[in-house]
Amino acid sequence: MFWVRFLVLALLSQAGVTQTSSSPTHASAPPNPTEEQPPLNTGSLSFPWSHLRLPENIVPLHYHLLLHPNLTILSYIGTVRLELQVQNNTNWVVLHSKGLRITTATVLDQNLAHLSDQVLPVLHNPTHEQVAIFSPRVLTGGQKYFLLLEFGAELGEGFYGFYRSTYRTSTGETRTLASTHFEPTSARMAFPCFDEPSFKANYSISIRRSPAHTALSNMPVTVVLDDGLMEDRFAVSVRMSSYLVAFIVCDFRSVSATTASGVKVSVYAAPEKWEQTHYALKAAVKLLEFYEKYFNINYPLPKQDLVAIPGFQSGAMENWGLITFRETSLLYDPTTSSASDRLWVTKVIAHELAHQWFGNLVTMKWWNDIWLNEGFATYMEYISVDTTYPKLRVEDYLLDTCFVAIGRDSLNSSRPISSVAESPTQIKEMFDTVSYNKGACVLHMLRHYLTDQVFQIGIMRYLRRYSYSNARNQDLWDSLANYITLQDQQSDHYKQHLDLTTMMNTWTLQTGVPLVTVARQGSRLVLKQERFLRTTHPSDPAWPSLYLWHIPLTYRTDTSTSIHRHLMTTLTDSVEVGEEVGWVKVNVDMAGYYLVHYDGPGWDDLIQLLKDNHTALSFMDRTHLIHNAFQLTTAGRLSLDKALDLIGYLRSESHTVPLLQGLAYLEAFYRMVERMDIPDVTQNLSTYILWYFRGVIDRQTWSDKGSVSERRLRSELLSLACHLGDLPCLEQAQRSFTHWLDSNSTLSLPADVTETVYSVGAQEDSGWASLLHIYTLSLSETHKHKILSALASSRDTNKLHRLLELGLEGEVIRTQDLDSLIVMVARNPRGHHLAWSYVQKYWSTLVDKFQLGSFSIRNIIIGTTGQFFSTEELTEVRVFFESIHEQASQLRVTQVAMDNIQKNILWLQRNLGTLRSWLDQQID
Ligand code: BES
Ligand code: ZN
Repeated sequence: MFWVRFLVLALLSQAGVTQTSSSPTHASAPPNPTEEQPPLNTGSLSFPWSHLRLPENIVPLHYHLLLHPNLTILSYIGTVRLELQVQNNTNWVVLHSKGLRITTATVLDQNLAHLSDQVLPVLHNPTHEQVAIFSPRVLTGGQKYFLLLEFGAELGEGFYGFYRSTYRTSTGETRTLASTHFEPTSARMAFPCFDEPSFKANYSISIRRSPAHTALSNMPVTVVLDDGLMEDRFAVSVRMSSYLVAFIVCDFRSVSATTASGVKVSVYAAPEKWEQTHYALKAAVKLLEFYEKYFNINYPLPKQDLVAIPGFQSGAMENWGLITFRETSLLYDPTTSSASDRLWVTKVIAHELAHQWFGNLVTMKWWNDIWLNEGFATYMEYISVDTTYPKLRVEDYLLDTCFVAIGRDSLNSSRPISSVAESPTQIKEMFDTVSYNKGACVLHMLRHYLTDQVFQIGIMRYLRRYSYSNARNQDLWDSLANYITLQDQQSDHYKQHLDLTTMMNTWTLQTGVPLVTVARQGSRLVLKQERFLRTTHPSDPAWPSLYLWHIPLTYRTDTSTSIHRHLMTTLTDSVEVGEEVGWVKVNVDMAGYYLVHYDGPGWDDLIQLLKDNHTALSFMDRTHLIHNAFQLTTAGRLSLDKALDLIGYLRSESHTVPLLQGLAYLEAFYRMVERMDIPDVTQNLSTYILWYFRGVIDRQTWSDKGSVSERRLRSELLSLACHLGDLPCLEQAQRSFTHWLDSNSTLSLPADVTETVYSVGAQEDSGWASLLHIYTLSLSETHKHKILSALASSRDTNKLHRLLELGLEGEVIRTQDLDSLIVMVARNPRGHHLAWSYVQKYWSTLVDKFQLGSFSIRNIIIGTTGQFFSTEELTEVRVFFESIHEQASQLRVTQVAMDNIQKNILWLQRNLGTLRSWLDQQID
C-alpha cells in the first residue's frame, strides 16, 4: 500500500502539485479507499457504453505514466495521470483496460483539484476490454480534466502488453527482462488508455528500475533520479497513437552512431550478442538517412533505438523511436548468417523505419485501412533497399511478394484490402498477405502508372498534410491526384481526381485479382477481364461475374522495344497492335497486379520465343510467364503440359529468379506426390529434375562465394538436390557434416549450405543428438533456426514427437519458435499427421500462448492443413473447425485453409494424370 501511495505522490510532484495547492479538497494523494472513505455505492450503476469502439466525447491529450516493474516477483504497478478534453457534458469516462487491477480512480479539474471526496467507482466490461469511471460531479463540455488511475498487473507470460522474457548466458545463468508489444490492441493490457489509433496524445513516461538495469522508452531519458531505486524520466513524446508506445527494462548492451541529420541510432542486444549488432547499426543509419531524403521530412525524434528481444512473437514492431525485433530479424552473425539472412535483416529494418513515417507520423484512421501502414512499409522495403544496398538485388523478390498475394486473392475466401475489422481478433487478422503483399503490389502498380516522381511527390504531400494525424484511403488518392493536376495544367482537375479514386477503389475495395485474356484478331488485340479464381471455373454456377477493375495495362511486342500502355476500364476492350506483330507479352515486368491468359496460339508463340531467344524478354517477364502458366493450370484453364513445356527452356536460363520460379513448381509437385505416396510419379519426377538440372547442380560449389543471387541459387539448388536423394550431394553433405562434428563444431561451414549439411547429418541418430546438443548451446539465433529445421527433417517420428514436446515446454525450444517448428514438422512427410494431431490436441494451449487471430495461429493452421490433398482430410479439418466453432467462426483463416485444401484436391484431379504421362514421355 505504501508503495502505491508513494507512486501517486511522486507523479503528482512531477506535475508540480504540492500539499499547498489551491484545491478546495485535499490536493495531494487521493483518498485511501480502504482506510478513509467508503466508495460510492456502485450497485445501481450499469456500464454506460455498449459499443466496441470508445465514445468520441472525451479525447486524451497527455498521458503522464509512471511504471515500476519488479523483475523478481514478475509484476508491476503504475500510475497514469491522463489529461482529457471533454467535448459534451458527461459523468462517465470510458476507456480501455484489459487484465489490469485498477486500485484507485480520481478525477481532478484543470487546477488539479479533486472533483469528489470519494474514490470513484470503476466499472468493468471485460468482453469489450473497457472500464468506465463514474464522476458524481458532471464533467463539463469544453473543459479539461485529469483522470488519475493507479493500477497493477503481472508481467505477462505471453507476447503482448507489458510482458516478461528471459535469456540464458553462456555460463547458464537465466536473466529476465520486461518489454512491450502493443499493436494492435494490447496497450490496454499494460496501462488504462484510449487504445484506438486516432486517439493521438503526448506521453510523458517515467520508469522505476534497479541500478543493474537500463530502461528504454520511445524518447530519450532527460532526468535520472537516484534514490536507491532509480527513476528514469523520458522526454515528452510527440503526438502519437497508443499502439506505438513502448518501454523496456533490461540489462542489454548497445552500439550507437549518429546520422547526417543528428539522430542518435543505437542497437541493443543481450550482452553476449553485442558482436552481432554492428551490421544492423550501419544499415539503420543508412536507411534512416535514405527515408529523410525520400520523404523530404526529417525524422522528428532525437534518437532511434533498435532492440533485439529474446522472446518476441512477430518479426519486428515499429514503436516510435524504440523498434523491437525478434533476434533473427536484427542480429547478423558474420560467421553463421547466410546471404538471405542478411537480406532479411536489411528488409526488416527498412520496413520498420519506413513505418516511422507511414504509420507513426501518419496513421490510418482505423484498422480497416491497416494496409496504409503495412502495404506501404512493405513496398518501401523495395524502394529503400534498392538504393541503399543495390548488391542485395532486393528487386528480385518483388515478384514473389505479388505471387504470394495472388495465391490468397485467387481463392474465394480472400477479402478486399480495406475490410471491416472491429473486434481485437478481427483486427489482428488484418495483418495478413492482403494488407502486406497485395498492398505493396497495388502500390507498385500505381507508382508505375504515375511515374516514380509523381508517386514520390504525392506521398510527400500526403505525409506532410496528415502529419501527427490520421488518414483514410481517399486522403492518399487526393494527395496523389492533386499533384497530377498541378503537373498537367491541361487536364480537368475534377476528372483526374475522380479517375484516380475510381481506379484505386477497384483495387482496394474489391476482392480478388483480375485475369486478362488476350486474343489476336487481325491487327487488333482483343481483351477481356474477369476475376481469377483457382477453385471455381467459369462453367460453375457459382462463377462470379460482377467484378470490374480499372487496369493500367502494358504490353510489349516483337516489333519495337517500347512499352505500350492502355487503361482498361471495361469488361471487354481491344487495342491496335499492327498486322506485322508476332508475339505479344502483356503486363510488362509484371508491374500490374493481374494475370494474363493468351488465347489461340498465344502461349505457343511464347513457348517458342523462350526456346529460341529467351533474352528477348526481361527476367521479370520470363518469371511472370512461368507463374501465369502454372496458375492457369491450377485453375483448369491451361493444360499442365503446356506449362511444363514453357519451362523446357530453363536449361539455358542463367537468371536465378526465373530458374528458381520454375524449380519451385517442380519441387512443389514433388513434395505433393511424395506426401500423397504416389511412388511412380515421385520417382520419375525426382529422376527428371536431377537429370534436367544436372549441369547447373554440378556447377554449384560448397562455399559462400559469389553474388547474393549466386549464393541464393546455390543454397536452394543443393538443398533440393539432397532432398531428392542425389548421391553426389548427399556424399558431400555427409563429408562436411563429419568434418564439422570432428572439429567439435568449431569449423565454420559455408552459411549458405549449412542447413543442407545439417539436414543430411540429422538423419543419423548420433548426428541428430549432436545437433540438438549444439542447439541448446548456440548463441546465434539464425544458426539455431538452421539446426531446428534440420532436426525437424528427421525421418524418425519419435524424434519429431520429441521436438514438438520440447516446443510445448518452451525451455530448450522457445515458445516464440513453436509455430515455425510445427510448420517444419508438418512439411516433413513423416511428420505431417503428427503435427496436425498435435495442433488439435493442444489447440487451446496454442491459442493461449499466441492469441486468436495472430500471425502465429494462422501460420500453424495454414502450415499444417496446407499439406492436405484429399476429401477425407478436408472433412477431418472441417470437423475440427466445427468442434472449436466459437473460435473458428471469428477467424477468416479457417475458410482460407479449407479453400486451400479444395484447391489441392482439384489440382490432383485436374493435373496428376497429365503430370504422369508427361514424365513418362520425358523419361523415355
Ligand atoms: N507493425 C508490424 C508488427 C505487427 C505485426 C503488429 C502483426 C501487430 C500484428 C510490423 O511492422 C511488421 O510488419 N512486422 C513484420 C515483419 C516485417 C518485416 C514484414 C512481422 O512481424 O512479421
Ligand atoms: Zn509493418
